[in-house]
This record gives sequence, C-alpha cells and structure tokens, in this order.
Amino acid sequence: MEQEPDVIFLSREHVDGLVALERICFTMPWDEAQFSRLMNGEHFKVLGIMEHGELKGYLSFLKVRDQAEIISLAVHPDSRRRGMGKKLMKALLDYCRIHGVQWVSLEVGLSNVPAVELYTGCGFQEVGRREKYYSDTGEDALVLQLEMADALKLPFSQQV
Ligand SMILES: CC(C)(COP(=O)(O)OP(=O)(O)OC[C@H]1O[C@@H](n2cnc3c(N)ncnc32)[C@H](O)[C@@H]1OP(=O)(O)O)[C@@H](O)C(=O)NCCC(=O)NCCS
Repeated sequence: MEQEPDVIFLSREHVDGLVALERICFTMPWDEAQFSRLMNGEHFKVLGIMEHGELKGYLSFLKVRDQAEIISLAVHPDSRRRGMGKKLMKALLDYCRIHGVQWVSLEVGLSNVPAVELYTGCGFQEVGRREKYYSDTGEDALVLQLEMADALKLPFSQQV
C-alpha cells in the first residue's frame, strides 16, 4: 500500500511549485516575487504536501507572537477530498500548540463552501465580515477565528 505523504515546511526552493499551484487554484495567484519577499522574513511560513515530486497542497501563515493568521490554503484539484486540506490544518494547529499561539484567524469568501466547511469543522467561528473584500469578484469575506484552547478540546485535534 502506498504511504500517505507527510506535511513538510516549504522553503524558497519550492517557490516554482507554489506559483504553479497558485495559478491552478486562484483567480488572482501570487507570483514568485510575492512568495520570495515574504519567505525572506521570519514570520511567514509555508506548510506543504509533496507527492511523486510535485506540490499537491500548501498552507501559508503568518505567526507573530501569540497570534497566527492563515494567508492561503490550496489543494490541487486532482487531489481534493483526500484529506490533504485537513492534514495541512492539523499540522498548522500542532505548530501553533507547540509555539504558544493562542489565536488563529483567517479570511474566506462567503460562498467558498469547501473552505468554510473545512475551517468550521476545525472549530473556527465567525467573528466578523469584510464587505466587498475580494477585488476581482466583489464578494464579502468572513473573518473566522479559532482559540487554541478550544482547538485542544476538539476531537479533530486528536484525529490525524
Ligand atoms: C478548501 C480546500 C483547500 C479543501 O481541500 P481538500 O484537501 O479537498 O479538503 P479535505 O479533503 O481535507 O476535506 C476536509 C473537509 O473540508 C470540507 N470540504 C472539502 N471539500 C468540500 C466540498 N467540495 N464541499 C463541502 N465540504 C468540503 C469537508 O468538511 C471535509 O471533511 P469531510 O471529508 O470529512 O467531509 C480545496 O477545496 C481548495 O484548494 N480549494 C481552492 C482554494 C481555496 O479556495 N482555498 C481557500 C482559501 S481561504
């Protein structure tokens, strides 16, 4: 049986793969310069899943003191519904737990059902809305937040 791919921290050598995945998954993809600039700093981190030498999913976040903000999460369309999104979230929550993060937040499009389901399934709750947040669609964003103390109580945090 084939082994499940692990979650790893990505570095600048993975930027080409990140840019390729961005182009497939988003209407306003980040380019190489955007990734490279943030990856030079100490606060921006990217978790990823490689399979057969290709980047299949990633989750980027900023960690500043006891707060983390998810910047982006994407799984290649051919690899969706196989638990990779959940696995990346689990790796993020493990990192946050170890590094003393108390709050994790993010913004997600109101109509993005797969992502909203994934986040709320991890215990994130709506704490606000940003009107017309996305410049390409004019869609509102939900602001979701998770208190790590609550994440520890979730069955999800013990699952994967
Ligand atoms: C959101 C996304 C990352 C989910 O990745 P994934 O690997 O398919 O997710 P998983 O297989 O781990 O699913 C985890 C949970 O998410 C929810 N989910 C995922 N896809 C879903 C769908 N199409 N419809 C409804 N719920 C969905 C379910 O609750 C699922 O749990 P379940 O399998 O027990 O039902 C993926 O759909 C994606 O890359 N979308 C495009 C990029 C994007 O919009 N990113 C979010 C930016 S904020």
